[in-house]
Order: sequence, then C-alpha cells, then structure tokens
Amino acid sequence: MPSSYDEVYRRSLSDPEGFWAEAAEALDWDKRWDKVLDQSRPPFYRWFAGGRLNTCHNALDRHVLNGNGERVALIYDSPVTNTVKRFTYAELTREVATLAGAIRAQGVEQGDRVIIYMPMVPEAAMAMLACARIGAIHSVVFGGFAAPELAARIDDAKPKLILSASCGIEVNRVIAYKPLLDQAIAMATHKPKAALVLQRPQCLATLAPGHDLDWHETLAQAQPADCVAVAATDPLYILYTSGTTGVPKGIVRDNGGHAVALNWTMRYFYGMEPGQVYMAGSDVGWVVGHSYIVYGPLLYGLTSVMFEGKPVGTPDAGVYWRMVQDHKINAIFTAPTAFRAIRRDDPDGVLIDKYDRSSLATLFLAGERCDPATIAWAEAKLKIPVIDHWWQTESGWVMAGNCVGLGRLPVKHGSVTKPVPGWDLHVLGPDGGDLEAGEIGAIAMKLPLAPGASPTLWNADQRFIDAYLREFPGYYATADAGYIDEDGYVYVMTRTDDVINVAGHRLSTGAMEEVVAAHPDVAECAVIGISDQLKGQVPLGFVVLKSGTNTPHEVVTREVLVLVRERIGAVAGLRAALVVERLPKTRSGKILRGTMRRIADGDKWSMPATIDDPVILEEITGRLREAGLAKPVAEA
Ligand code: COA
Ligand code: AMP
Repeated sequence: MPSSYDEVYRRSLSDPEGFWAEAAEALDWDKRWDKVLDQSRPPFYRWFAGGRLNTCHNALDRHVLNGNGERVALIYDSPVTNTVKRFTYAELTREVATLAGAIRAQGVEQGDRVIIYMPMVPEAAMAMLACARIGAIHSVVFGGFAAPELAARIDDAKPKLILSASCGIEVNRVIAYKPLLDQAIAMATHKPKAALVLQRPQCLATLAPGHDLDWHETLAQAQPADCVAVAATDPLYILYTSGTTGVPKGIVRDNGGHAVALNWTMRYFYGMEPGQVYMAGSDVGWVVGHSYIVYGPLLYGLTSVMFEGKPVGTPDAGVYWRMVQDHKINAIFTAPTAFRAIRRDDPDGVLIDKYDRSSLATLFLAGERCDPATIAWAEAKLKIPVIDHWWQTESGWVMAGNCVGLGRLPVKHGSVTKPVPGWDLHVLGPDGGDLEAGEIGAIAMKLPLAPGASPTLWNADQRFIDAYLREFPGYYATADAGYIDEDGYVYVMTRTDDVINVAGHRLSTGAMEEVVAAHPDVAECAVIGISDQLKGQVPLGFVVLKSGTNTPHEVVTREVLVLVRERIGAVAGLRAALVVERLPKTRSGKILRGTMRRIADGDKWSMPATIDDPVILEEITGRLREAGLAKPVAEA
C-alpha cells in the first residue's frame, strides 16, 4: 500500500489538537475535554484538560459492553511453570473488578499509590488494571531489582499498599520475592500499611499477621469495584527509570493522553486490527511491558500474550516460534538482545522453520540500538518485515520508527526510519541550533510533547525541567545523540549521559559507581558500559584502592561485584572490576570515561588534549588487555 506517512506526519504537527482530538474519539469518555491541549503553564503542557475517563474501562469493560466479552484478552504462557492460561475480556474484567475491590478494602483511595513488585504472572497485569479502575496510581518495580532499589521507590512513591508474589522464576531458579520485599520495607522510611501476596506453589512466603495478606483469601472476600472516572490529566502510573544519578526518576504517565496515544499506535504504528494477537516479550517492570503487554493491546481490543520465560533456554531458542504457532501471534515486539541470543543458539534458524509461523506478519525491535547484522539475519530467517523503533520510558511510546499501519517506508538498516506523527524531532548542536543532514548532535523534541509523554516527574517538577528542558529551551532533550540523513531518516547512535543499556535494561553507571564507592577499601571508582555481543553493553568497573589497604585485590573486586548485585540487582551485575593505580582525568578532574570505553571497545580514540597524565591510559589499556576485556585498539 502507498504510504500516507508524510501527509499524516505533517498534519500531526500542523494541527496537533485536531489530530489528537480525532484519535480520542475512539475511546469512551465520561466527560469530554474542555481543551485538547492546555498550554497555560509552559513548560508543562496537559492533554485533554477537563476530560474525564477511566483507563481500565477503556481497556476492559468497553470491549465487553461492545459485545466482545468472549474475545481472549490475555494469554499467559509460562514455559517455566508449564502453564498456559487464557482470560477472555469478560473474565479479565471480573478478575480485575474483584481485585480492585480488595485493594479498595485496604483503604486505598483515588490518587493513593500502590507498588507492584511481581513476576510475569497475569495477576501483575490485573494489579495494574485494578489500580487504574479505582484511580489509584500504580508503580511497578521490576522483579530483578534488589531490596535497596525497591526501598528507594517505596520512599519516593509512598504507597499505601504493596502487591507482590512469593517468588519469580528465572529459567530454573526460584527467586523468593518476599524476603526482598521485607528487607526493602525494613530499609524504607515510609511504611506501607499492608502487602497483598500471591502465593505461588514453587515457593510459599511466610506471611506476617496484621501486615501481609494472602491474595486468594483476600479476593474471596472482596466485593467487585466499578470504574471511577478520573481526570484525563490525573496520573495513571509512576515508573521509575535510571537517570544520571543513583536516585531514580519517577516518570509520571497521565490517563487521557496515554490512552489516546497508545490506542492510536496499535493501528497506525503496529498495523494491528482488533481481535489480532500481539506479543511483547518484555517484563511488566519496564515501559514496554506497561505500554505493550498491558495497556496498548487491551485498549485496542487485541489479545496480548504475556510470556514468563526467556527467548532462549526455556526450553530453547524456538520458544517464540512455538508460541506463534500455538497462539497464532500476528506481531512480536522484543529487544534486539533477545534476537542476538536466538541467533547465537540457532544460527541456521532450524528452530524457526520447525513451527508454523504463517500468522506472524511483523517483528518489532526496540529498547537498544539494533546492529544491522541482527536485523538482516532476522529478515532473512523470518522473511517478514523487521521494524526497529526508538522510544524511552519518558515518551511511553514510539518517537521514531516505520509506521506499518500508515504503509511502510523503505527500510535503511541502522536507521529507525522517521519521526512518528506527534513528535517534532530535531538534531541540535551545542548552541541549540538545528544541524545539517548527517551531522551528529543531540536528539531533541520540540515542545509540547505528544500525548502520553511524561508530563513531569513524580513530585519533582523542577527536576523534570533540570533533567530534560534546561539544556535546549523549548525542547525536550532525549539524552540520545544521532543524526538525520538527507532523506529524513533518523539514526540513534548513543546516549549522551551515563545511562547504559544492558540486555535491553536501562541502567545508570552513576548509580553503580555510588555502590562501588561505598566499599570500605575503595577510594575512587568509575563504571563504564563496554560493548557486548549478546547484551549490547555490559558494565565494567575500575577501582582505585585507599592507600594502606591490605585487603587483597581479588577480595575487593569480588566484594564489589557482590555489592552491585545486592544493592541494585543481578541485571546490573558488573562484567568485572579492575583495580588500577589511578583513574584517567582531565586537568579539571573529570574522569575520562568515554576514552576508557573507546579503548575497551577497540574504537578509534585520541589522547584528550586536556588529560592530566597520559601515562594512566597506558595502565588502563594494559589492565583491560590482561583481563581479556580490550578489543584491538586502533589509535588515531
Ligand atoms: N527477577 C530476578 N532476577 C532477574 C530478573 C527478574 N525479573 N530478570 C533478570 N534477572 C537476573 C537473571 O537471572 C540474571 O541473573 P544471573 O546473573 O545471576 O544469572 C541477571 O538478572 C541478568 O539477567 P539478564 O540480563 O536477563 O541476562 P540473562 O543472561 O539471564 O538473559 C537474555 C539474557 C538476552 C536472554 C535476556 O536478557 C532477555 O531475554 N532479554 C530480553 C530483553 C528484554 O526483556 N528487555 C526488556 C526491555 S524491552
Ligand atoms: P528505556 O527508557 O528503558 O526504554 O530506554 C530508552 C533508551 O534506550 C533510549 O533513550 C535509547 O538510548 C535506547 N533505545 C531504545 N530503543 C532504541 C532503538 N530502537 N535504537 C537505539 N536506541 C534505542
């Protein structure tokens, strides 16, 4: 089909209010908005001001009321527990209404926060929707985060209630969640009133009387709750993400703009039709899980597949294709790292060809930069379009990509294609001016941002301005750098801050440095992200020991690795920690992390003119080579 992209994109920028008002008609509103875009308090812009709706109603009850109650809403496929469960829209609505009643019975009111710390079980999706139903604000914390990270989120969000489960399952390891939860609550200053705990048969949690409630017993006594109309501008959820410091940022998502934008994307970006089957191979703890396991597919009336497993090892690299065959999946969304893992285990695609994949029309990749070789391999083996697209926790949905529903544009490997309707994308130089085609600069979005983008940070308007809006007045700085080519194609190359992407997980090296520096023998440290064939990037630490320290180096480095896993989580595990005499710095004392990264990655590098002492880089190079962590260096 000829692409209508250009026309639709132009209209979205020339008449944003008309464009998004039309998109909003697809949803049920309890009260229509007074203003599509409220611009009265820049730089804070609000979509659908004055409007009232309920996100859960639009994602569940609306479909039942429209006669689609028997359509399957959610398929839970868990190779790690040998379980497949299906919930129709009518069943899911009933389950969610009961859970909402149980949450409310714990004194949770509209606007109160609820933390969800759960593995990939359907109850996690139900928990999110149940909060939305009664206007409570959920904050899902990824199960791979350790207790101190959970404690930091408890203290920031101040939840009345926590929803959790006894355990998660990592391939064949049972990870008990309850001890982590107890530890986090003990560490936090804020004390939630209660915890509702789902007991899984793989590991039963000990429940503390008076605080912990058994999920099933509590639900058995609960009265179902109806949907509450909330302001379109009220928060639906807070999702914490890594920033440039160890303190996570509470990304706020509102109800109205979010529902309108996600519903729009399902058709016009992902090219789906209601009733089709969609699978996002992510985790509910990440933004992809929020937007495309739960809200997007359900708002649009799709069947969403929730997968508790890994792309390889549960049991093998054929699991995605087995699910495509079993559930007749029409589109898959996953991270490039999953594909690199599949390619590593099944290089010839033998497992790909073992299953009937005739339903699968498109593969979407996002979460990290995708190397062109992986895309080319996926295209060759699957023989379907492979669509790379770029977005962030902050945006909530795709900012640049190839809009399948508007008619695909030709693909250029290495590019995420073009800005998506709603996003006024610019590549800016240090002076804030637009750069020429091909010139690398900061990727920024002209304000106001599209609906669904984070309107602010939780209880931190000033931090929102400082983190995103101060650098380029009138623009949101994405913290990604890249360029636009002469055809308008966007290339996202690298982060401009300390955020790294490890197996599609967004992590802050600054946060890791805070942990490493807390080791009693460490005087100074630096953590950098080095490239990794499977995970894209992995963190690597350099430590300078305090003078007079007698602890053997290997003991310190071992303890440092353990500390990072214990304080942040296994997903942030350092590849190694190397003891060095000194860290390379500029004369003004700035650690030359970029140069160290280039040395490790074998990229061309030149001696920074401002370096304090050039000899240190030789030591770093030597340590990296000794540890087998340096690719051959091409010195410029
Ligand atoms: N709860 C507890 N621990 C978790 C966890 C969770 N929810 N998720 C990951 N972990 C642990 C893992 O068990 C592993 O621990 P280990 O080092 O002790 O073995 C560690 O964190 C690292 O996990 P991960 O980064 O997932 O690496 P892996 O080697 O287990 O798997 C892939 C590699 C590529 C298969 C895996 O990263 C993957 O499936 N990625 C898909 C991408 C994705 O989901 N991205 C999300 C954003 S779209
Ligand atoms: P997160 O907030 O966890 O979704 O991570 C967002 C970051 O991941 C972005 O700012 C990018 O650095 C990176 N990212 C996501 N998708 C892509 C992509 N398709 N290409 C390049 N980088 C990406």
